[in-house]
Amino acid sequence: KFKKRIGLIGFGCVGQGLYDIVAANPHLGLEIGRICVKDKDKPRTLPAAAFTFDVQEVLQDTSLDILAELISEPDEALKIIRAALQQGKTIVSANKKVIAENLPEFISLQQRYGGVLLYEASVCGSIPILRTLEAYYGSEPLLEVRGVLNGSSNYILSKLHQEKVGYAAALEQAQALGFAEADPALDVEGIDALHKLCIVAAHAYGLLVHPSQVLHFGISHITAEAIDLADAVGARIKLVGTIRSDNAGNVSLQVIPTLVVAEDALYDVEAEFNGVEVNAQFAGQQFLKGRGAGSHPTGSAVWADISAAVRGYRYTYPKLCVTNASVVQPEEPITV
Ligand code: HSE
Repeated sequence: KFKKRIGLIGFGCVGQGLYDIVAANPHLGLEIGRICVKDKDKPRTLPAAAFTFDVQEVLQDTSLDILAELISEPDEALKIIRAALQQGKTIVSANKKVIAENLPEFISLQQRYGGVLLYEASVCGSIPILRTLEAYYGSEPLLEVRGVLNGSSNYILSKLHQEKVGYAAALEQAQALGFAEADPALDVEGIDALHKLCIVAAHAYGLLVHPSQVLHFGISHITAEAIDLADAVGARIKLVGTIRSDNAGNVSLQVIPTLVVAEDALYDVEAEFNGVEVNAQFAGQQFLKGRGAGSHPTGSAVWADISAAVRGYRYTYPKLCVTNASVVQPEEPITV
């Protein structure tokens, strides 16, 4: 068979982005085979015949090579990913909440049934952070990984600093541009950034940390006075997620609004952009910046995952104890 057929589940902001990218690159050997959506009445950019409303049809369709789960409802997404992995299928997802909360189960299912789950698009949109952490820092001690991980919060904070618009107006803009979650409280309360930080922890430190274990604050209580104070000292307020390890090997995680000075790499991460700084023992400090949200940037990360899966890539979680294909949690409890 010449083309790899993708079963697309969800046709919102990210699904449409993936569709556009695949349609614009027919020479790359991928095609969208099925599209599953929930809402029968929503106006769409494709003819009605392009869609199915029954997710089981997609899950059972053996002509599909890869599934892309791009819906926002977490309970439904969990069922879809679980069912796909129980059948040993290859599935990619952009669903940070579901990945962060269920990663140990997803790892076990892959070990047991041989399927593959990739989710680069779930963290920092277009930035290739997870595979980079595995490929380049796999065995090197990491002192710190920190970043601006939520595009909507960053967009709102940038607007508050630059244009002095009100918080509600800035949030509305982030929603209108397709950056925000269906429930924007996930963005502004720091929960989305927390989910992404927990996923990063798995690939950077081999830590499977449940989000409920991690200290987090969002930006919903940042006042105009706080913004003015930051401006007065030449700094910006950013929502920063940090994973840091100490000399004894203890690792701590937090998501918290932070005063970022002009010399800091995160200072120039503005609007919907995300940025991640990695501080490794031997490589030193490095920094990745890119669009963290939006249809095409996130769609491009899903596309990259699909291409990686076609080439046979699977995550190795390098700092977990890996023996052949099986991933084992370290025996010592980890302080978080
Ligand atoms: N709501 C998310 C954000 C989308 O604003 O960063 C991308 O994960």
